[in-house]
Amino acid sequence: MQQQDSLRLRPSAEVRFAEELAALKAADQGRKPPGWALSAKAVRSFILGDSRFSIRRKFFGDDALVERALVALMSEQGLMLVGEPGTAKSMLSELLAAAISGTSMLVVQGSTGVTEDHVRYGWNYALLIAEGPSQRALVPSPVMEAMRLGRIVRIEELTRCPPEIQDVLISILSEKVMAVPELGEAASVYAAPGFSIIGTANLRDRGVHEMSSALKRRFNFETVVPLADPNLEMELIRQELDKRLGQAAISVTFPDEVTDLLVTTFQDLRRGQTRDHVPLSKPSAVMSTAEAVNIAHAAALEAAYLGDGTVGGAHIGRQLQGVIVKDNAEDVKKVRAYLDHIVKERARRSRVWSDFMGSVNALKGGS
Ligand SMILES: Nc1ncnc2c1ncn2[C@@H]1O[C@H](COP(=O)(O)OP(=O)(O)OP(=O)(O)O)[C@@H](O)[C@H]1O
Ligand SMILES: [Mg+2]
Repeated sequence: MQQQDSLRLRPSAEVRFAEELAALKAADQGRKPPGWALSAKAVRSFILGDSRFSIRRKFFGDDALVERALVALMSEQGLMLVGEPGTAKSMLSELLAAAISGTSMLVVQGSTGVTEDHVRYGWNYALLIAEGPSQRALVPSPVMEAMRLGRIVRIEELTRCPPEIQDVLISILSEKVMAVPELGEAASVYAAPGFSIIGTANLRDRGVHEMSSALKRRFNFETVVPLADPNLEMELIRQELDKRLGQAAISVTFPDEVTDLLVTTFQDLRRGQTRDHVPLSKPSAVMSTAEAVNIAHAAALEAAYLGDGTVGGAHIGRQLQGVIVKDNAEDVKKVRAYLDHIVKERARRSRVWSDFMGSVNALKGGS
């Protein structure tokens, strides 16, 4: 049974942005690569925003990367998005697939448990036994569907797949055909125009199954890095927060100074130096924008449900704890040093920073 869209916690991109995609399509006069639902320019507008159609920006930071990704998808090769966790690799692949193919639902979730059935095809065993191999008994993988329909298939966390699965992709990307020996040559599936693969891989996972150089050659690699511009990161956090709180019909006061504290802390610890170039020890914890958004959201929920509706430095401090402690005890020491050497000074001049310092200290049972 089809689940109603409104009941899904997170509908797919083509559903969430159906209006935007329809508006772009209606006005689209740009050049469409074969098999694409929209022109490359319209896809770019969808992802980077376009005020003419009141389309808001979805991916922040590196516009040139998005353009290179579009070119990669027009080419013979696949697109491989690599980077630290939480840098919007999956989000970008979903948006690209939704805009280019009209669906982002052809996905293989990479893991050590992925088998050939997931990237080639499997069988409905009841039918197979009853009738022998037939088209009816064949269960296509998302990759096979994408080839047949000329769509984009996304392979999440590709480096977690076993090497033999990665090898299957090599032949698909080079030959653009998938044979079904059980059904004879006529049953081979040839990739229709528009077919491509977007893989994502987390740099921290690499090495689990290092990609072979043969597969690497068949992908255009793009590295997605955390947002370096604090103003863009603030804008993104605000936008994401408004969206999440709006969906739950929650309203809070979230002062700019508090967002600034959150972004400053993340950027300092992520880079291992403050804005004034004071060096610090970098924690190993993932300090991505996605984590910052989660902290802002949790802080807002706490303020709304357990406080007076105004988010302060103390809320951020309490939530930060969860991000840091998750990884290791060494990190706690590094954050303590950050508090002692950097935050203390800021706390002298600002209430928001002193509340922040107080709550991080209290949680760690420190001074
Ligand atoms: N540059 C960015 N532009 C827009 N959103 C971003 C950006 N960086 C991070 N985000 C936020 O991060 C969220 C989740 O990112 P996503 O899950 O796509 O990351 P990922 O790189 O696939 O991470 P992982 O490696 O852990 O799978 C996005 O929904 C968005 O809120
Ligand atoms: Mg991901």
